[in-house]
Amino acid sequence: MSEALSARTVLLTAEINKHEIHARSNDAKMTSAAQTDPTLLPALPNWHLKEHGLLPVVQGGMGVGISAHRLAGNVAALGALGTVSSVDLRHHHPDLLAQSQKTHDRAELDGINLIALDREIKMALEIAAGRGAIAVNIMKAVAAHATYVRQSCESGAHAIVMGAGLPIDLPEMTRDFPDVALIPILSDARGVNIIVKKWLRKQRLPDAIVIEHPRYAGGHLGAPKIEEISDTRFDFERALVEILELLRGMGLESEKIPLIPGGGIHTHGQIRALLQMGAAAVQIGTPFAVTEEGDADIAFKRVLAEAKPENIVTFMSVAGLPARAVLTPWLKNYLGREKALQSHAKADQRRCVQGLNCLTMCGLRDGIASAGQFCIDTRLAYALKGDIKKGLFFRGSEPLPFGTAIRPVAELMQYFLTGSAPVTA
Ligand SMILES: Cc1cc2nc3c(=O)[nH]c(=O)nc-3n(C[C@H](O)[C@H](O)[C@H](O)COP(=O)(O)O)c2cc1C
Ligand code: SF4
Repeated sequence: MSEALSARTVLLTAEINKHEIHARSNDAKMTSAAQTDPTLLPALPNWHLKEHGLLPVVQGGMGVGISAHRLAGNVAALGALGTVSSVDLRHHHPDLLAQSQKTHDRAELDGINLIALDREIKMALEIAAGRGAIAVNIMKAVAAHATYVRQSCESGAHAIVMGAGLPIDLPEMTRDFPDVALIPILSDARGVNIIVKKWLRKQRLPDAIVIEHPRYAGGHLGAPKIEEISDTRFDFERALVEILELLRGMGLESEKIPLIPGGGIHTHGQIRALLQMGAAAVQIGTPFAVTEEGDADIAFKRVLAEAKPENIVTFMSVAGLPARAVLTPWLKNYLGREKALQSHAKADQRRCVQGLNCLTMCGLRDGIASAGQFCIDTRLAYALKGDIKKGLFFRGSEPLPFGTAIRPVAELMQYFLTGSAPVTA
């Protein structure tokens, strides 16, 4: 290990020992990172996001409410990039939920969401206490994405990560906040080509790029159709080579834009191999969702951790993108009726029962027969609360590092960085 790395190890260990987790009141028994083995050795090199030196494991944003302040803050406190998902964070704030019940006005509901986002970012920053960095994940497909971007910058987020659509206008949206890092989520060299060319015209480059594999990732997937998710253009070995070649061809080699593959990564060996292939870090979702610090109900974590491979399915979301989730009772029932519901697709504003109008294009409200026909906001909120009968439980396709065990973030990070699993796992 180099001297720089050893010095960092000492620092990280001291930080973990100092670290206190701000648990929600109903999580009093949560194990803090300070109580875990303090031999967290960063055996893999750091990467840089603007001025932040970070551990090479990024925690992906997970909505609705799955990665809120507690998960993101605790990941950042270890020296990595923790990500708050911006989608409908009201569900972590009973006062805001109560306020929402009194209105069906979209502007008012958006305003309430922004208060929740501001609170979550500030609480995550407080837990991080200057360590690591806090990103906010914002889906382009969400109607209020531009206001989420502005709020995130104003609330002190260090980075904006945008996927579920091409974030072409992100540089304009963040013009007043040049210190905020911009990270598009793309899936192949084609997407990178479009974004980098468009952004160059605006004198901006991505500060990093997440390359998400639609065959393995959880949540919405970056392929236009389900039949395309296994296309070899998404394979990391091919995508990394093609993207590095593309950037070289554009004369951007010296910019060293960090590339961050994500989707199905669950072993230390995979991370090491991807870094050797030219990745700067990896993005990981499902394994973080099931940690003790994950912001969802324990029943949510059990559904993900205990899912059998044959019960993880890919289907069309209401946002018009393929998505991956666990085949729980609601999804099974819905998929059984999907064709019939699609044949009755009809544009009708009243189908957006809450009046939230969360999506720019919604298969249910706008009568798009090729898209899903359910309210995703309602279903994901049930899942967050652990309602196994009614919820939609997004999950990646691959096994989890600790099987069905729910362990602290520090142990997961230790395993990803060093390959050494805790004896208790
Ligand atoms: C429960 C869940 C919710 C997710 N929500 C979002 C989201 O709101 N926005 C987003 O860009 N990605 C979302 N993702 C994708 C993750 O950020 C991550 O990139 C992906 O899960 C990586 O694959 P893995 O789960 O196999 O590690 C979600 C994933 C899961 C499992
Ligand atoms: S029906 Fe649901 S998913 Fe569609 S826009 Fe309204 S709140 Fe969003």
